[in-house]
Amino acid sequence: MGWKGRDIISIREFSRKDIDEVLKRSSKMDKKHNKSLVGKKLSAIFFEPSTRTRLSFETAMHNLGGEVIGFNESKGTSVEKGESLVDTVKIVERYSDCIVMRNPLEGSARLAAETSSIPVINAGDGSNQHPTQTFLDLYCIKKNFGKIEGLKIGLVGDLKYGRTAHSLALGLSHYVDSLRLISPQNLSMPPHISKEISSRTKLDERTDLKLEGLDVVYMTRIQKERFPDVEEYEKTKGVYVLTKERAAKINGIVMHPLPRVDEISPEVDSLKQAKYFEQAACGIPVRMAILEMVMKG
Ligand code: NCD
Repeated sequence: MGWKGRDIISIREFSRKDIDEVLKRSSKMDKKHNKSLVGKKLSAIFFEPSTRTRLSFETAMHNLGGEVIGFNESKGTSVEKGESLVDTVKIVERYSDCIVMRNPLEGSARLAAETSSIPVINAGDGSNQHPTQTFLDLYCIKKNFGKIEGLKIGLVGDLKYGRTAHSLALGLSHYVDSLRLISPQNLSMPPHISKEISSRTKLDERTDLKLEGLDVVYMTRIQKERFPDVEEYEKTKGVYVLTKERAAKINGIVMHPLPRVDEISPEVDSLKQAKYFEQAACGIPVRMAILEMVMKG
């Protein structure tokens, strides 16, 4: 499948070969790039809060000579007057060459892609998927280890509502033989995803924070905003905290898509294991590569 015009909605749509190609192009971008997107416009339409994803997409576009229009919340747009997502997409596709969208509704990115004649990139649709985060997570892992194959990786935290965990677990299942999934019982990986992963990779699902033997500890935030019941959240918050003492014993690296709340103590930041800020920086070359691929091929 060609890249020009391609939507990026779910990591499921990408084969191992596709993922490898994105990582290769990202690495090239890291070394050298030109203004390949001069004259192109990106619509960044964000219906949910974002810091890294939106700003790294904007930076990526600017680095390649392109422009960005968009909004950071539905406040101030016609969505407040009752305009539908489909109508909003029909407008911005006439103003730009690519859409990157974050929306609280699962499936909204797919709907936008079906409506739009220009490529749509999913920057997070509810608890469902966050494919470009996975590309940058894999890029960061590869940058640190020179490979992804055979590494021992553990995903920790809210695996039920965390879209980064869903996408990453599916992406990793193309590379690793086993995957450790650590979550409280009530926040375990949705069965439809673990079933899909376990056809390729052995799963070790557990509730205790067992980090021994891991090359990558991928921490995630308990997704407060997704809980139907705030009391349920209160019961679970703070369940796993990576302290400096714990982190110092890790033989590999600590990653986190960020934002963190209390799951990684700030004292961990100064340890050599802490790679989450470097991980966020990987968003730039990876999103430059993705934007160029879907707009230019
Ligand atoms: C994540 C998200 O929005 O899903 N953030 C990000 O894009 N880096 C993780 C989170 O909000 O916990």
